Amino acid sequence: MKWIIDTDPGIDDASAIITAVNSGALDIIGITTVHGNVGLNHTTRNALRLVELMGADVPVYQGASRPILQQREHAAEYHGEDGFGNTFLPEPGLSPADGHAVDFIIESARNHEVALLTLGPLTNVALAIAKERDLECQIKRIVMMAGTSRARGNTSPVAEFNIFADPEAAAVVFNSGIPITMVPWETCLDAVFGSETIAQIRNSSTQVGRAFAQAMQYSVERTTAYLGTEVLLLCDLLAACAAIDPAVIAEQVQAKVTVETGGQFSRGLTVIDERMDDGSKPNASVALACDRSKIANMFLDALNAKK
Ligand code: BDR
Ligand code: CA
Repeated sequence: MKWIIDTDPGIDDASAIITAVNSGALDIIGITTVHGNVGLNHTTRNALRLVELMGADVPVYQGASRPILQQREHAAEYHGEDGFGNTFLPEPGLSPADGHAVDFIIESARNHEVALLTLGPLTNVALAIAKERDLECQIKRIVMMAGTSRARGNTSPVAEFNIFADPEAAAVVFNSGIPITMVPWETCLDAVFGSETIAQIRNSSTQVGRAFAQAMQYSVERTTAYLGTEVLLLCDLLAACAAIDPAVIAEQVQAKVTVETGGQFSRGLTVIDERMDDGSKPNASVALACDRSKIANMFLDALNAKK
């Protein structure tokens, strides 16, 4: 199976990319960037910087710069204006690959067995599904960080950022029939890292480790202020680890997940129907708990991997 990482880096996206690439466990054929935590120019630049810092041979394709219907939604207050903790790393020497992310996804699915690891708003994936007939039959699976399992949001009272930033795109993806493993916000919140792991990250001596430790400081400060104790929250990392090793998911439930695209108060909510009393079939496996220490070890190993 070949993997494509669709992402809006983003500090936690960075941890997910580092782990997915440096673990060597996934055959990653490309990274596609999307608007999200910050604008597309920043997310693309950050993806290129990471690839460069890791010395990886993975092309980066630039994708959608805005959501399908609504205005752009960003999360710079958590990721910094540059999407990388306001560290303003030097411009990458690498450039994006030729072609649009959507076409890269389509071409890849035509030529290989492809799975997607999605870490940002689902605009690129929805556009690819809209553009290519039967793409939903060609993409084998999606592992995503997105949504909420119990309607506890981080961007609205009930909606998680990756869904809230493009609910129409998310609806297309959840309605596509592609098998989905969904890692929701509440599960990530239960798997924050404490001071010990934070110190281990700070001790990393690799190039990419030092850059990550610098960038994470910004989000550690914000998350610590929010939760009242020193913690590091790396939502997207959980999805990357679940793609590498499904055993990191300690508890999951099969459900029919629908995205609320209307709603006066609930736009962007992921409605988790575990009962399926109306005869619906499940379209997603929703991760309710993850093995935090296993995930921390996977990340630390990746961060310290020498080329
Ligand atoms: C998600 O939103 C973004 O801010 C993070 O990168 C993560 O993908 C968490 O809700
Ligand atoms: Ca993200």
